[in-house]
Amino acid sequence: MLRNPAGAYIAVAMPEPKVKIVLEDPFAELPEEPVEDRARVRFEPSGQEVPARKGKTLLETARTEGVALPHACNGRSRCGTCRVRVLAGPLNLNEIDAVERRTLQQYRVYLPGIRLGCRARVLGDCSVNVEMTAEQAHASWCEKGSSAWRPRGGFK
Ligand code: FES
Repeated sequence: MLRNPAGAYIAVAMPEPKVKIVLEDPFAELPEEPVEDRARVRFEPSGQEVPARKGKTLLETARTEGVALPHACNGRSRCGTCRVRVLAGPLNLNEIDAVERRTLQQYRVYLPGIRLGCRARVLGDCSVNVEMTAEQAHASWCEKGSSAWRPRGGFK
C-alpha cells in the first residue's frame, strides 16, 4: 500500500519475488551427526582423546580439536612434518595413496606405521603418536654434525 498526495491509500500490485532470501540463524545448533559417522582419536603422548568425524584427516581432526600437530605445508602433503606413528587401529585409517607414499619416501620414513596426518583419513577409532615422530623426523632429517635443519639429500 502506498499513500497518494491527497492522503488516500492506494493498492499497488507487486510481482512475486523470484529470489527467496532465507536468513540462517548463526546461533542455531548444528545438526548432530549420526553416531556411525563418529570415531575417537587418541593423540599421544599428551593422551588427548578427541571425537573425530569419519572421513576427516588426522590433521583436520587435530586442528578442529586444538591438538598440536605440526603442518608446515598446511596439509598439502609436501613437507612431511605432520607425520604420526599409528599406535592402534591402523585398519581404521584409509590406505596409503601414491601422494602420501611419495612424500614419505622423499623423507625416508616410508615405514610401517608411519602416516602423514594430512593424508590419513579416520575411518574408526585409532591412536597415534605425534611427538615420537617429531623426534624421529629431527633425527632423520638432520645430517650428523650439522646444526642446519634440512632433509637428508637437501631440498628438492
Ligand atoms: S602438512 Fe605437510 S605433509 Fe602434511
